[in-house]
Amino acid sequence: MAVIAVYSPKGGVGKTTIATNLGWCAAQRAGHRALLWDLDPSDGAGFMFALDAPRKRQARSLFAGDISAHTLIQPSSYARLDLLPADSSLRELDAMLLRMGQRHRLATLARQLERSHNRVILDCPPMFNELSAQVMRAASLVIVPLPPSPLSARAFAFVAEEIRRNTKRPPPILPVLSMIDRRRSLHLEALAANPAWPSIPMMSAVEQCAVHRRPVGAFAPHSSAALAFARLWDGIERKLAQLAARDAAQPA
Ligand SMILES: Nc1ncnc2c1ncn2[C@@H]1O[C@H](COP(=O)(O)OP(=O)(O)OP(=O)(O)O)[C@@H](O)[C@H]1O
Ligand SMILES: [Mg+2]
Repeated sequence: MAVIAVYSPKGGVGKTTIATNLGWCAAQRAGHRALLWDLDPSDGAGFMFALDAPRKRQARSLFAGDISAHTLIQPSSYARLDLLPADSSLRELDAMLLRMGQRHRLATLARQLERSHNRVILDCPPMFNELSAQVMRAASLVIVPLPPSPLSARAFAFVAEEIRRNTKRPPPILPVLSMIDRRRSLHLEALAANPAWPSIPMMSAVEQCAVHRRPVGAFAPHSSAALAFARLWDGIERKLAQLAARDAAQPA
């Protein structure tokens, strides 16, 4: 099972858009039993999949151990893709995690999903806090969306430092150039400077995900945006395969 965190301390960089589209690619393109776990109290992932907001505020109770993940998990309209939705109770999650003092609480809960799901994608809030530290400890791979700007480059350095400070076995970071507009010179420079990084184009089809409340692959499967998400997912699978081979080669 792999946990793929989509994280940045910066807001509005495309985390939820990328996480929801990757969840769809994992289930529909790669045939995985995929779970999109929304850790952001604003519940963007549930909205993007046109699911009803949870009636009870129970997302935080999962971390306290008062309720099981399987009570909260909802199927999406797509085969093999489920959602573990957020709600406003997650606003108090960080304080609760600090009180609990269990530094690997999120990792433990994620591991318990292994029987039902083999790809767990975390949509993270834009914060540096105990939750983000726990995300780094739980993640097999951290996707960092970077719109091409000097501020984003700074955010990337912060994430690398956050991972280094909080983990004994740092997960690899996969930077993704997000919201790329090839008409802008700064964006072309970012692409040229980082030729190995995947990129997602700035496109109205991507923006429309929140209007249709569907992943782009579901309503515009041949668009360049859908192809970019598919390529990104394939790159993630390649990276996970490399990590698995590395782990298998290392003595236990
Ligand atoms: N590639 C893209 N092309 C066009 N619009 C995009 C693209 N990616 C994201 N957007 C738009 O940018 C806005 C922010 O995206 P999103 O909500 O995914 O960011 P976020 O990082 O999750 O934000 P937050 O930090 O608030 O959770 C949304 O309106 C979304 O539709
Ligand atoms: Mg978001």
